[in-house]
Amino acid sequence: MVAALDIQVTKIERSKLRDIDLGNLPFGKYFTDHMLEAEYENGKWTNVEIKPYQPLVLEPSLAALHYGQAIFEGIKAYKDQNGEAFIFRPFDNFRRFNISAHRMNMPQVPEEIFMEGMRRLVALDKNWIPGKADHSLYIRPFMFSTDTMLGVRPSDKYKFLIILSPAGPYFPKPMNICVEERYTRAAPGGVGFAKNAGNYGGSMLAATEAQKQGYDQVLWTDAAEHKWLQEVGMMNVFFIINDIAITPSLEEETILNGVTRNSVITLLNEMGIAVEERRISIDEVIQAHQAGKFREVFGTGTAATIAMIQKLKYKDYVMEFSEKDWTLSNSVKQKLNAIRQGSAPDQHNWLFRV
Ligand code: COI
Repeated sequence: MVAALDIQVTKIERSKLRDIDLGNLPFGKYFTDHMLEAEYENGKWTNVEIKPYQPLVLEPSLAALHYGQAIFEGIKAYKDQNGEAFIFRPFDNFRRFNISAHRMNMPQVPEEIFMEGMRRLVALDKNWIPGKADHSLYIRPFMFSTDTMLGVRPSDKYKFLIILSPAGPYFPKPMNICVEERYTRAAPGGVGFAKNAGNYGGSMLAATEAQKQGYDQVLWTDAAEHKWLQEVGMMNVFFIINDIAITPSLEEETILNGVTRNSVITLLNEMGIAVEERRISIDEVIQAHQAGKFREVFGTGTAATIAMIQKLKYKDYVMEFSEKDWTLSNSVKQKLNAIRQGSAPDQHNWLFRV
């Protein structure tokens, strides 16, 4: 539990929920009735408020719009069979949020604002949590700089907000992926491990070019040689080779320390599957494919959970993966979903009761 916090709450007069079909939801399109907003000024967080979801009034000179001090998180809330609401591993996202804040030279958000603010907001909009499989309430905490000035320096003022979006699956179908050899997502010493807005903005051209060739996303490679694999689109990536799960390690700080990545590693270990967190090159992947030892590859992230990959292309070499071989990925996904929806025991204390 976190300390009591003085939050001013203003409730909506009429819920928008009756206008929305919670059984048929695209990802991230609808927002619930309320949002949380807090302000940072003179070295302190103030004005913590839950209020009706509404537009922000911002000046054109807002520093975040020009110099990109902007970070976010993605977290999910579920309902169990008894209608109780749970948030999945929110403390991990809270810690990562402040790691991102540090890297982007932004203030730390205190635990009571992040956690207790989120808990009260989700409790208030609890009826928005969809009950359908593969659906959830996606929680989006974010912070951006709010000084109004054009000098390049860290802002003195910031806003922290949390908005909620009832959401269906991010990738309803298995993905086609091509290995990126021109653009770079992250390099050592950069901001690849932080969840800052610019990482996502910088990835869009590569994704659009991949889509023009019939692929959904790219598999990012290292900046120096374009051969060491990093992330797939905006997700961590796992390769199942010879019944071993291999995922790029966090050491170089070029990839996100994914909460779903960590959950999948834990569950794979419990299933008796060896997991190697290490460097993995596209050459190793291709050799394993040619030897018939590489049958499953998937992305992990909060939004997508586990996203299967059906086609992976590197130069002219195309690897196709058949759904009937996706045994490990499907079983880890089922285990994770069962814990998140309360139908399997929560042995790791991953669920935070709202
Ligand atoms: C998440 O999985 O939460 C992400 O970061 C993806 C998001 C940008 C939609």
